[in-house]
Amino acid sequence: MSGAFLSLTQLMKMTENKFEFSYEVYNDISELPEADASLLTEARRVTGQAYAPYSHFHVGAAALLANGQVVTGTNQENASYPVGICAERVLLGNAATLYPGVAIRTLAISYNSESVNSDHPISPCGMCRQALLEYELRLKQPIRLILAGMKGEIQVVQTARLLLPFAFTSSELK
Ligand code: THU
Repeated sequence: MSGAFLSLTQLMKMTENKFEFSYEVYNDISELPEADASLLTEARRVTGQAYAPYSHFHVGAAALLANGQVVTGTNQENASYPVGICAERVLLGNAATLYPGVAIRTLAISYNSESVNSDHPISPCGMCRQALLEYELRLKQPIRLILAGMKGEIQVVQTARLLLPFAFTSSELK
């Protein structure tokens, strides 16, 4: 009966920590600074290059690198469903291969679908959060995220790290 309650002794010993973060919200692309708007436009454009015959959920990602280059990625699905890969990790692979050692400054993500309205932001799945975090740690630079649909509200998060509190990282493996 008392399993869910903390005793007074336990309460006196424990400290409570809190995780919270702020992010920016824009009503639509017209409110974004020009460089961000153009990156999001590119993410929206490449949704057309996704291969998503199973989910019909076409995701596009576009990243501005520290050298000024823009790299893109789209989700690529497979009849053996788990083989499919998200747009974000395709992008990271492309960036690491084309421009090794160059940090990603900003990464925009959008999506298009025949069956759902693309009028609100989506955020990366858990596996992609882990991959984005490792890219940040590897290049020692935060990746700013622009999250959006084909229209409507846009969210901007200052670093991918914020999306994965209590992350498991390589520091545990040394
Ligand atoms: N997907 C992405 O590519 N990125 C996301 O942020 C969310 C989900 C893909 C995986 C799968 O191909 C489809 O969207 C539906 O989950």
